[in-house]
Amino acid sequence: MNTVRVSLGHRSYDILIGEDLLQDAGSLVRERVTGGRVFLISNLTVFEYHGQKVVDRLEAAGLEVVHLLIPDGEKSKTLHTVENIYTYLIAQRADRNTALIALGGGVTGDVVGFVAATYLRGVPYIQVPTTLLSQVDSSVGGKTGVNHCLGKNLIGAFYQPSLVCIDTDTLSTLLPREFQSGLYEVLKYGLIYDEVFFTYLCDNFERIKERDPETLATVISRCCEIKAEVTSIDEKEADLRRILNFGHTFGHALEAATRYEGYKHGEAVAYGMIAAAHLSHREGYLDSKAVQRINRAIFSIGPLPPASEVPFPRLLDAMKRDKKREEDRIVFVLLEKIGKTVIRSDFQEDLLSDVWEEVLRESQ
Ligand SMILES: NC(=O)c1ccc[n+]([C@@H]2O[C@H](COP(=O)([O-])OP(=O)(O)OC[C@H]3O[C@@H](n4cnc5c(N)ncnc54)[C@H](O)[C@@H]3O)[C@@H](O)[C@H]2O)c1
Ligand SMILES: [Zn+2]
Repeated sequence: MNTVRVSLGHRSYDILIGEDLLQDAGSLVRERVTGGRVFLISNLTVFEYHGQKVVDRLEAAGLEVVHLLIPDGEKSKTLHTVENIYTYLIAQRADRNTALIALGGGVTGDVVGFVAATYLRGVPYIQVPTTLLSQVDSSVGGKTGVNHCLGKNLIGAFYQPSLVCIDTDTLSTLLPREFQSGLYEVLKYGLIYDEVFFTYLCDNFERIKERDPETLATVISRCCEIKAEVTSIDEKEADLRRILNFGHTFGHALEAATRYEGYKHGEAVAYGMIAAAHLSHREGYLDSKAVQRINRAIFSIGPLPPASEVPFPRLLDAMKRDKKREEDRIVFVLLEKIGKTVIRSDFQEDLLSDVWEEVLRESQ
């Protein structure tokens, strides 16, 4: 088992990563909660695969487990779902010591984290992320929240869990496209922060794609270390944390321009990373060899759904509306070299349009 410590003073916590970690869920949770009762919140898909094991292990450790299922999918990441959970918790007389456990992907984690941040002004919660994306990204860093009908993730809170428990075995049941989508975010960490890790990923794609547990544990641990380091230095996205948005300017725009239906988040970010690499080259940072290395890595993860039907003006509109915009500028995280970022804004629309054309040519 690997441990990554997130250092945030009295709110510090551990991220544990390992094979068959759920086997130890009972003792791991027991050590970190004060009440005798926990609420396990999941969705039907994930619960059917992994829920009973978690319930059994928690009960074996002497905890009373109440489980509650929310609907599957991004559409359930709403205040309505949050309110249903509040109602259930109130009816069950959950008190300040009652810990919530989120078992599932980023949707479950974000919703449960937000409930934990706000129910009785805050109750403890534990993340058990079960998608690659949630294991390397959404379960780390303390961002919780839900969507509003006018935009994604517009309502939320920063709230840290008491523990993140990552069992690499849970990934064995994940659909290939979900797994692949998470891998693009994995690659992002190497690109923004650690060239040695990037090279390791390029050398080990086959083993990673076979979901070899040991390789996965190494990879997930390094991603968590990087995210934990970045978010501990900058918990609330003032500066350093922005580097995590590499690939997300074009990526978010592509998702929004296709109403979140055309691409998985990671796939859109993959396009965004190709665009950011080209822009970095145009601005004189990355040499063309590095751009080719990045493209090769992205394409070796697997095929991307085509983007040729998305016209540039629609992307530009979406970029202008993005909430990460600063005043009136569209901000880009670029690469000075692999492993080192630079933040830039104020690009001519023509340049962005050219870059997008290049991305489309290359991804055909
Ligand atoms: N809080 C953050 O910092 C942060 C960061 C990145 C993304 N997010 C959020 O995360 C969400 C996306 O997360 P996601 O990609 O995990 O999506 P998700 O939670 O919808 O999971 C994807 C699908 O996989 C299923 N699933 C989950 N685990 C499984 C398993 N082990 N086996 C089989 N199926 C499984 C789910 O039921 C779902 O159908 C978005 O809402 C995004 O905004 C949050
Ligand atoms: Zn992302």
